[in-house]
Parts: sequence; structure tokens; C-alpha cells
Amino acid sequence: MVRIQDTLDTATLDSDSTSAAPGQDETIGQAAFDQHLDDRPQEQQASAGPSDPSVSGEVEDRFNAVNRQPDLKLVIISNRVAPFDPNKPQTGGLAAALEPVVERSGAVWIGSSETRGDGIERPLPLVPTGAGHVARLDLPAADHPGYYRGYSNSTLWPALHSLPNRMSGSEEDYGSYRRINDFIARAAFDVRDRDAFWVHDYHLLPLGADLHDLGIERPTGFFLHTPWPTPDMIECVPNHRELMKSMLKYDLLGFQTNRDLNNFLACLRTHFGLESEDGVVTTERGQIRLQKFPIGIDPEQFAAYLAADLSPAEQEKVSSLLQNFQGAKFAIGVDRLDYTKGIDKRVEAFNELLTKEPQSISLLQIAPSSRADVEEYQKYKEDVENAINHVNADHGTDEWRPIHYTNDSFSQAALARLYRAAKIGVVTPLRDGMNLVAKEYVAAQDPQDPGVLVLSKFAGAAEDFNDDEALLVDPNDPKEIADAISEAANMPLEERVKRWRSMMDKIQSYTIHDWSADYVRELDRSRVTVPADQCLHLGRGWTNEAHMPLYRNHAEALATYNEIDPTDVALNEAAYADEKKAYEALEARLMHTQRRLWDLPIPTASLSGRPEQEPGAGED
Ligand code: F6P
Repeated sequence: MVRIQDTLDTATLDSDSTSAAPGQDETIGQAAFDQHLDDRPQEQQASAGPSDPSVSGEVEDRFNAVNRQPDLKLVIISNRVAPFDPNKPQTGGLAAALEPVVERSGAVWIGSSETRGDGIERPLPLVPTGAGHVARLDLPAADHPGYYRGYSNSTLWPALHSLPNRMSGSEEDYGSYRRINDFIARAAFDVRDRDAFWVHDYHLLPLGADLHDLGIERPTGFFLHTPWPTPDMIECVPNHRELMKSMLKYDLLGFQTNRDLNNFLACLRTHFGLESEDGVVTTERGQIRLQKFPIGIDPEQFAAYLAADLSPAEQEKVSSLLQNFQGAKFAIGVDRLDYTKGIDKRVEAFNELLTKEPQSISLLQIAPSSRADVEEYQKYKEDVENAINHVNADHGTDEWRPIHYTNDSFSQAALARLYRAAKIGVVTPLRDGMNLVAKEYVAAQDPQDPGVLVLSKFAGAAEDFNDDEALLVDPNDPKEIADAISEAANMPLEERVKRWRSMMDKIQSYTIHDWSADYVRELDRSRVTVPADQCLHLGRGWTNEAHMPLYRNHAEALATYNEIDPTDVALNEAAYADEKKAYEALEARLMHTQRRLWDLPIPTASLSGRPEQEPGAGED
């Protein structure tokens, strides 16, 4: 990959070049190269993620994929940082996913601490962790509520999950969100000399732009752990245009599923008139690659959890939970207590099921509290608990309780045991980026006697697992969920084993390590590999090495033409024809870029270095 410095953006063909030759497009010098990333065609995007062994016929032994990651000195930035303590409960998929990248690959991970600060800049508080470092920042107290409770979790979160009725927030929230992003970018300046920046999740959509505004010119990638919605839905988000424009300052945008990727591309088309080609979008800054990277788990680690000892306290908690079921079949749900998780509909489904088939099956619902200072979450907790109390009152007896519910958090090792004991995993979010509980449930099963996964068709995991594997359901339809649970509870062993084997093969064929290695490899391709001064003729923008031969051909043909005695008409014409041919080979690429270069207005830098709002952006 070649990045052409902005200082070269006026570079044109030499003044004595043929750029002004008859019939030739005079805009060649302004055009950025169109680099289509030949070696990342659409089909590769679509095939990212677990391979389907039934199609490929191969389930190969994977060697430790984390070792295949390019040797990059990475900076990872996310709002929340993993606890780095196996005895502490994990705080969601993101944390679980990135811990190994830091511990094994030596990355620096910057995120938020549990304390709030005064907003004064201080040196990055780097703490050695495994082979890497973690820096937990005290985010400014003044802006934190607007950033976290407000814009991130009351505006963006419901919008990204296509739940507009859950949206709230004040006008000031966006300012706080931008200021916290700025604060984090300035903190990251201390590690500006590392090789690449990998930013995570909806809290930090504009961080890449902030890093670039500070003059950090390393490749920056972003991965969204949540879904991305349709153009109509994103329009409900205040400042959505400015936000999406800032996202276009990243070099690589990663999504969980094709659905999210396609929604984002549709938003670019609808709101900016930008088209993509082979997963690449070109703006005045350069090219952005967009790709799906479906996150996975570490199945080997999960197997190790099953064998690991629990602390006495946790062992006691697990045993007393399991005692409730006295060996009878039960289903398990494990979710942060979040309205996107569809816990209320799941409870309704149990109501349906137990009306039809009394005392047939019970549910263990583990729902650690989440974002408890956000009003919608408080309401949701009440709603879920009321619904559970009703089901228990209507269908329970003195000896039998339909739903066992706890807000406690559990370590991965404790969860592994609970998943293993449950004959049905109920994962029914209204919408979800991926949902790693679905994969963890499968990974924890007994190969000889596995349980069945009931999975929302709107979870990202449903792009990995098909109808022959999980029982896919509409999470908004309690009756459908109830039927699936009943089917799962009565499924013959042979079918359970077949479905499980197929899902497990996929989980093993694309692990969390493959995910991070794939992402980092793609990000690596954004690194400067050819000095900019060798690319004067390229104008401004990006190109990749795959297209350099085309450019070199043209440059050579041009040099030959320039050396010819103008009085030698025949030679002159022949050389011109050669040069023209070489140019035309380039032209299609150039024009693709050229057409799009002006679709997105070039932001003008304000004194603060932040692009000023384009006219009309304020209405968002
Ligand atoms: O992508 C969703 C996410 O950011 C994950 O990291 C995690 O599942 C969860 O949300 C954590 O939320 P919070 O940090 O607000 O508790």
C-alpha cells in the first residue's frame, strides 16, 4: 500500500508531459489513483469468517492464528478495557476479544478508567500487561455523562440497534461526545510513533478523524461491535452526517456481518452519493476499505475453562444454581440486562410454552445489570422483573419455579459449566452485533450429548449459523420462540449431534485469533511501503502496490515519448500511441476515483483543527 502525502497533492504530470496532448484528459494530474485492491475482491469479503465445512469439505487443524498476525506495534483504543483478571467477570465481547491481542502481541490498549478526571492532559498512564501495556484514562468528569450515558448509550446505542423508541438525549450530548473523543486522541498522541491504531465501537466513531487532525498519520482502523442500521434509521441520529464523514477518515472500517456492511454502504449512497467498488470507497482524503470481520471465540480456551477449578465462592454459587433444577432439563439465557437482548420477549415465550406444556422446562436467566444510570435501562429492568414474577406466579408451584433469575456476574469458567448443564441455549436479542454467548454456549457442550441453540435471526451469529444448525427465530415473536424451545427440548440425540458438530466446526475454523489477525493484516496493508517521493506522478490519494506496475508502465511510456525528437513524426506518433495506451489502462481506475472525489465536500480546517460543518450539517 502506498500512501501519497498531502503535500504532493498538487503533483501533476511533468509540465512537458503529454497530459495536455490532444484527446487526453487534462485532469490526470489532480486525480488520485483508483486502487481497487484487486487482491481483496468482493467474494473475499463475503467469505470472511467461519468456513462452512459442509461446503469446503475441510476442517483443518488451526495453528495458533495469533502468531500469524503481522508484527505491528498496535495501539488499541476502546471505551472499556478488559479487567485482565481471569477471576473477574468479563465485561462483554469486546473485552474478551482484545485481551489476547494485548497480552500476546504486545499492543498498547487505551481506554477509560473507573474514575473521572479534571480534563487536564497528563502523560499516558501506561501499565505493563503481558507483552503489552494498558492505559486507563480518567475521562473528564464534565463531559462524561453526555458522552457515555447521553450520546453513546441513549442516542447511538438504540439507533444502531434500530430501536428509535428507546432514543433520548439532550442537544449538548454530542458536544460532550466529541470533546471526550478529542481528549482520548490527545492522550493517544504519546504513542503516535507506533505502527497503527485500531479503534473500537460506537463510543469512538470520530476518533480516527481526531487522530488525523492531530497529525497522526499512521493507518487507523475502526471495528464496530454493534449492528449498523439502515439509512432511514441513521437519519434519526443528531449530527449523523458529520459523524459518518468523520468515520471516512479511517483507513479501514470493519463490521460484524454483511448486513451491517451493506447498511453502511447504503447510508453512504443515500446520505453522500458515495458508491463503493470492491469494498473500497474513495473520498477527497483517499480510500477507505470496508469489510466484514465476524468476531469469534477461542474454543480451546473455552474447553480449558470447563476443566479449570473455580474459586470456592464461585463453585458454591454455581452448585446452588444447578441445585434448583435437580437434574431436570433447563434452558439458559446469559445477557447484559439490556433492552436489545429481548429478555422480556423470551419471558413471554416461556409464558406461552408453559401454558401449553405445564412444567415442561425451566429457564436460568443470568442478567448482570448494565448501564444502570441510563433511564431506559432502569425501566427495562423493572419490566423484565415484573414479567418474570408473573410467569413464576402463574406457572410455578411450591416445589417448582419456572424462571430462576439473577443479576450476578460470573467468570467465563463458571459460565462454561452452566452452559454445559443447560440443554437449551436461548439467545434471542432483538438485534445484536454478533453475540458471543451463542458461540460460547455451543463451545461448552458435551460432544456426546450436546444441547440445542435457539438463536435470534437478528443476531450477527445467525449469519454464521444457519437453519440446519441453530433453531432460528424471530425474537419479537414469543410464540415462535416458545415453539423452538419446545422443539429443542424434544430433539433426538442424533439431530442434536449433527447440528452441534456443524456449528462447532465453524467456531473452530474462525476463532477470535483469526478475527484479530485478519483485521490487523488488513490494517497493515495501509502502511507506507513505497516512499512518497517515488510516487510524485500519482497525485493525491492512495494506491496499492498491485497497481504500481500500471503506473510505472505509463511513466515509462511517457518518458520515452518525452525523449523523442519532435520532428520525427513517425516515431513521435508511435510513442504517443504507446503512452496513450498505457494511460488508458490507468484511466478507468483514475476516473472511478475522480468521479467520487468531489461528491464529499472537502472540509475546511478551522482554527481548532476540526473541520467546520458543511452548510446544512447543523440541522442534523
Ligand atoms: O459492543 C457492545 C459493547 O460495547 C461491548 O463491549 C460490551 O458487550 C458492552 O457493549 C459493554 O457495555 P458497557 O461498557 O456500557 O458496559
